[in-house]
Amino acid sequence: MQEAQQAVLKNESPQAETIAVPLAARLGDPLSAVDTPSLILDLDAFEENLRTMQVLAERHGVALRPHGKAHKCPEIALRQIALGATGICCQKVSEAVPFVAAGVRDILISNEVVGPAKLALLARLAKQAHMTVCVDHPRAAQALSATMVEYQASIKVLVELDVGQKRCGVQTPDEAIALIQLVQKLPNISFAGVQAYHGGLQHKRSLEQRQKAAEKAVRLVRQYLRAFAKAGITCPVVSGGGTGSAVFDVASQVYTEIQAGTYAFMDTDYAGIDWGEAVSFRHSLFLLGTVMSTPTPERAVVDLGLKSTSAESGVPLIMDHEGLRCVAVHDEHSILQADSRRNRPDVGAQLRLIPAHCDPTFNLHDSVVAVRGQYVEAIWPISARGLSR
Ligand SMILES: Cc1ncc(COP(=O)(O)O)c(C=O)c1O
Repeated sequence: MQEAQQAVLKNESPQAETIAVPLAARLGDPLSAVDTPSLILDLDAFEENLRTMQVLAERHGVALRPHGKAHKCPEIALRQIALGATGICCQKVSEAVPFVAAGVRDILISNEVVGPAKLALLARLAKQAHMTVCVDHPRAAQALSATMVEYQASIKVLVELDVGQKRCGVQTPDEAIALIQLVQKLPNISFAGVQAYHGGLQHKRSLEQRQKAAEKAVRLVRQYLRAFAKAGITCPVVSGGGTGSAVFDVASQVYTEIQAGTYAFMDTDYAGIDWGEAVSFRHSLFLLGTVMSTPTPERAVVDLGLKSTSAESGVPLIMDHEGLRCVAVHDEHSILQADSRRNRPDVGAQLRLIPAHCDPTFNLHDSVVAVRGQYVEAIWPISARGLSR
């Protein structure tokens, strides 16, 4: 029976075309012609954000090493570097592969790397690019060194300090010094400095509280640096900082480079904090969706859900629409509630939404559609999407 059915199908469509999924957008298309859901980058706002952070870092003589985990897109990293960034950070070794392939030559894996497969990949990358990696345990340093020797590669090491994040990192100056002295003895790895990243303070709402927390972290780093000096250890690099603490970190006279990521895009998570006067960033990243159903006078359903936007930090914010808010995000749908019939968009309306958290949202898309004004200027692959090993 099955065979008979197949024969009929074959006979009915002897020259059936192979159907490829069409691209969501073409260069030069107006935004209104872009298929949805799509991830959109407003190039004017994005470029302004890149300049703002670069100028801030340069004004204080601090290097900017933007975090690639925020976007996973080599085209974006190359633009950050062209503006003056020293290189980028990646959080995972596999994430670095497409960046190296695209020509990024200086990458800090701002994380601990454990396990033979990851170390082997790191060694291969270190033969093509200047790689640096974090270490917080003697065994990890030994395994890193042994793998570098095996692959005839070399790599720089930052010893990670826990400055209040309560994630990875050594806990005391003595522990740090013992680890640094070990790193200095081991072949094919060299001590370059420390990583002192404090994620927990980045989203503190009040500017004053954020400043206090950032200064506390800086005081801790200074204690470490004093202990290093006493032990005769020079520490050229102090790397850390994110979008929320950058203004304080660049002025600290402790950090030599900052690792901000979200500043290029601004999600609602960051938009909700108090920025004060010192610096501001624009929303450059949004999701484009289409209203696919209006089941009630106040309800509209848009064609994007958890497979297009992260929601662990909250629902996306609808742009340009008064009295309309997103109340639920399902797998492929988001539910929008209007405060009146007048404010409910009609079926077919195109909506722009700001994601709550840019990093996991980029990770859901194959490409980002870069627009200038109302027109598509470029489509950039998010080549490191899904690369989390
Ligand atoms: C180690 C490290 N550095 C820098 C960043 C970038 O932070 P942000 O996107 O808040 O600027 C992160 C983000 O989680 C991080 O984990």
